Amino acid sequence: MYSQRGGSGVTLTPDIDLNACCARAYSHPAARYLLGDSLHPGGLALTEEVASDLNLTPGSRVLDVGCGPGATSLFLAKKYGATVTGVTLEEAGAAELESHARKQGLEAQIDVITGDIASVDLSPTMFDAAIAECVVSIFDDKPAVLRRIFDAVQPGGRLAISDVIVEGDLPSNLQSVFAVAGCVGGAWSLDEYVSLVEGAGFRVTRSERRKDVASSFVDGVRKKLMFAEIGVKLGKIPVELELIQQAKTYVAEARRLIDDGTIGYCVIIAERP
Ligand SMILES: C[S@@+](CC[C@H](N)C(=O)[O-])C[C@H]1O[C@@H](n2cnc3c(N)ncnc32)[C@H](O)[C@@H]1O
Repeated sequence: MYSQRGGSGVTLTPDIDLNACCARAYSHPAARYLLGDSLHPGGLALTEEVASDLNLTPGSRVLDVGCGPGATSLFLAKKYGATVTGVTLEEAGAAELESHARKQGLEAQIDVITGDIASVDLSPTMFDAAIAECVVSIFDDKPAVLRRIFDAVQPGGRLAISDVIVEGDLPSNLQSVFAVAGCVGGAWSLDEYVSLVEGAGFRVTRSERRKDVASSFVDGVRKKLMFAEIGVKLGKIPVELELIQQAKTYVAEARRLIDDGTIGYCVIIAERP
């Protein structure tokens, strides 16, 4: 079950297991078509931007929280020579990351753990840095997980988070849809995330709303849905047209909520004192 927001929040359908739901959704071929390999808004360009704040050098040990199929883990291993431990719920994602690591000759630098970050075995201060992209929003017990990440990062080590934010009330007719779509259901506001990260013991050095990232993400999904619609109409994609049209309606609604500031994306960089 997911937890309600930390502050004045929306009340969403309370009987949804966001962790399981997310793991299923993100290994679905439709999600890969719509999102690509990097399963978060901003893609690897945003990863590169936040990683530049992690002070990585060859051999740095990085925890990639909720790594999914591991585009970020591979990127950090290749670009910085980092040694990355990716933790993810879904076995398909873990297998994909292991296979890519082998093919790219990075297997010595990448270790994949399939399991819940809340309970997998992590030794204190074993990492120089941690990155959590589009996954804090999904955690059921956010404070407990942030404390685990804090314990696993050494003093002076950095944490980079990028995630969905919800800054107001979602329209009631869309709450159950957005509860399971795009990590919105468990998303908090930027201020709530900052308090969460500080509450775990980190010192936040940068926190910002990134409407640009949210907007271009939704516009990208809209374009892919338009191509998919053409494919369905030509009989090339075996999906019901109604589904695509419904998805287009939700995406249009998401765009409106981004424009009015209800939904967005954020970046937070923090350091363990
Ligand atoms: C939106 S995807 C992001 C994947 C990856 N961080 C990226 O940006 O490409 C969220 C991922 O977090 C993983 N996840 C969700 N809850 C988790 C948990 N409690 N422990 C470990 N992984 C989790 C899911 O399995 C999924 O792969």
